[in-house]
Parts: sequence; C-alpha cells; structure tokens
Amino acid sequence: MKFIVGNWKMNGTSESRGALLKSIRNVITNNKIVVCLPFILICGNDFGVTLGAQDISEHDNGAYTGDISGQMLNDANVKYVIVGHSERRTYHHETNEIVRAKATAAIKNKIVPIICVGESTEEKNSGRTMSAVKKMLLESIPLSGEFIVAYEPYWAIGSGKTPSGSEIADVFETIRKALSNAGRDDVALLYGGSVNATNAKEIVNIKNVDGLLVGGASLKSDTFLPIIKSID
Ligand code: PGA
Repeated sequence: MKFIVGNWKMNGTSESRGALLKSIRNVITNNKIVVCLPFILICGNDFGVTLGAQDISEHDNGAYTGDISGQMLNDANVKYVIVGHSERRTYHHETNEIVRAKATAAIKNKIVPIICVGESTEEKNSGRTMSAVKKMLLESIPLSGEFIVAYEPYWAIGSGKTPSGSEIADVFETIRKALSNAGRDDVALLYGGSVNATNAKEIVNIKNVDGLLVGGASLKSDTFLPIIKSID
C-alpha cells in the first residue's frame, strides 16, 4: 500500500472539488488516497474520499483570529494534515518548533500530521542537503504518536524539476536512519515536488519511498487519476 496525497494549496472551487472527489470515488486501488483541501472546501459531501487539511493551529481554541484548531478539523472528519510545508515555512515564517507544536496538536486530535522537510536551492548547491534535511526533520517531529514525513526539496516544488533517483534514494536513506536512531521505524515517507503521471511510478518504487505528495497535478482528475492508476 502506497500513499498518494494531493495538496490543493490555495486552489479550487466547490465545483472542482466535487468533480475530483467524485472521480476518485470510482477508482479501484489498493493505495491510500488523501486529498488535502483548503479549509473552506473541506466541509460538505466527501464522496467517501479521505480528506486532509494543509495547516492546523498549535492551540486548542481561543483568541486566534483566522486559525483552525485540531478539534475543528477532527469535527469536520479530517484524517490527515500537512504541517511545515515549505510555503508555510517561507511565507508564514513557521519554525521547526512551531511545526512540531502543530504536529503534536494534530496527534492530540487523532489527525495524522504529514510533516514536510526539504532543502533550499542554496543548501543543495552548497552540498548541505543531508545536514539541512536531518536537522529540520529531527527538530520538527513530535516526541510520540503517529506521523508521516514528506521529503520535498524546495527547488523541486512547482518547478517541473525533480532530483535523480539516486539523489532521492540517498536522502530517504538518511531520513530513514535518522528516524530509526530516534526509535521510529514505523514512519511512512513520502516524496513531493513536481510529481506527475510520467515520473510517479519510478519515484514510488525507489527504496524507502512509501508514497507521494502531489501538488499541481492533484487539482484535476485528468492529471491526478493517471498518477493513481500508474501506481497499482
Ligand atoms: P508540486 O507541489 O507537485 O506542484 O510540485 C508539491 C507540493 O508542494 O506539495
């Protein structure tokens, strides 16, 4: 069983949401399909598709204008939440400490956090990919509970560029070892960054890769379904 997780980012309408979820409902697959929607599109008929969110407050409730808590997400039947996506780390200045607090809040509310880590272009170009990813990982993961890690090189997101198979394998080995040393051999690892129907199968078959986090190609059934079908 592989995970195929869609990340809609700040895209979509209630109409496009309905169209995608209805088309996924009819796909027969052994894999776990999750669609992470903007908050406002989460509520309503989920057509039997597992839904995720793209952020969560680290707080339970209270005077945090604009934020959404784990209790609210749980109440809306959300099962997964992306935390620490590079866009949130960059545009909302989320630190590893905040990401860890958000992951902990998700677990407390029975939602599985998908914790994103990755290196910047500068870190890659200066040969610091492994150390950057490892530091971000170990400082962002919660102390206990179920979680997933998504490796998304910043420079691969939305760029059409992906690391080579051996680069992905090396980073995943580093992540796997770091988690193992932290006593966690039970964590699913996803790859994200310019996944499409052409590269999905090859990436998901790389050692230690348990699934994919798909951005742009998850928005429409004509690009998302071929990815799902290519992995069965
Ligand atoms: P992309 O986005 O597939 O459009 O590169 C992936 C992500 O940011 O999760």
